[in-house]
Amino acid sequence: MAFSLMCFVLLATFLFMQTLADTSCTDCFVQSRASFYSNSEENGTDAGACGFGSFGATINGGDVSAASSLYRDGVGCGACYQIRCTNGGYCSSNGVTIVLTDQGSGDNTDFILSQRAFGGMAQSKDASTSLLALGVVDIEYRRVSCSYPNKNITIKIDESSSNPNYLAFVIWFQQGRRDITAVQLCETQNFVCKLLERSHGAVWTATPPPSGPLSLRMLFSTEDGDDTWVVPVNNIPEDWKAGETYDSGVQVDQ
Ligand SMILES: *[C@@H]1O[C@H](CO)[C@@H](O)[C@H](O)[C@H]1NC(C)=O
Ligand SMILES: *[C@@H]1O[C@H](CO)[C@@H](O)[C@H](O)[C@H]1NC(C)=O
Repeated sequence: MAFSLMCFVLLATFLFMQTLADTSCTDCFVQSRASFYSNSEENGTDAGACGFGSFGATINGGDVSAASSLYRDGVGCGACYQIRCTNGGYCSSNGVTIVLTDQGSGDNTDFILSQRAFGGMAQSKDASTSLLALGVVDIEYRRVSCSYPNKNITIKIDESSSNPNYLAFVIWFQQGRRDITAVQLCETQNFVCKLLERSHGAVWTATPPPSGPLSLRMLFSTEDGDDTWVVPVNNIPEDWKAGETYDSGVQVDQ
């Protein structure tokens, strides 16, 4: 009796979750709060937890943000969100589109924006000053596609790398709204592949990496669990160097 009741409860819970999944809309705005980096100049930060380096400070014109739970142990790095504040007196209806480059949480906030992005949610320059004076505001947000016109997905070899023993890199300029959930490096001659570790943020590492010219494979995942491997046309050359960037020759738009 108790067992069948438990089965019933489990089934009912499952059906309820299914209903939730079916009715949740990926384009809907979610209510939250946001603040800004009070110590930032105007732009973002090149010291963000994602490990993007200079990309983090200047990308998207400096409209970047730290996230708390949306950081998702680094999977959220590089994701784009439309964020608009809800104070009708100060806020524009479109708000700003930001790129996640860092991890951080404030007073019940999902986002800590660069000052530039925070002020950018305002209707005017005066409203922007008033908004910044508030410090923390109610917002609503939704995930949107990232867009990097005239850029291919680019591999930036981290300065900590040392050929041939240790390879660390981040992936710049990924368009669309999918997550990169796994990365493999394959030797181009015998196709031995190695699944890489996400060491932190957006940083992938291999100790040691496979040898020779390297073919990268990136697993793109959607929120509803649809996985696709994307294979760049360009290889990472055998003599890859710390600090260098390599054009993958591909871009995605979903
Ligand atoms: C912000 O970034 C832009 C490039 O996007 C750069 O021209 C500008 O100098 C930066 N501002 C500061 C204060 O670092
Ligand atoms: C992107 O890669 C393609 C090769 O697949 C190349 O023809 C094109 O010039 C690259 N675009 C940029 C902006 O580098």
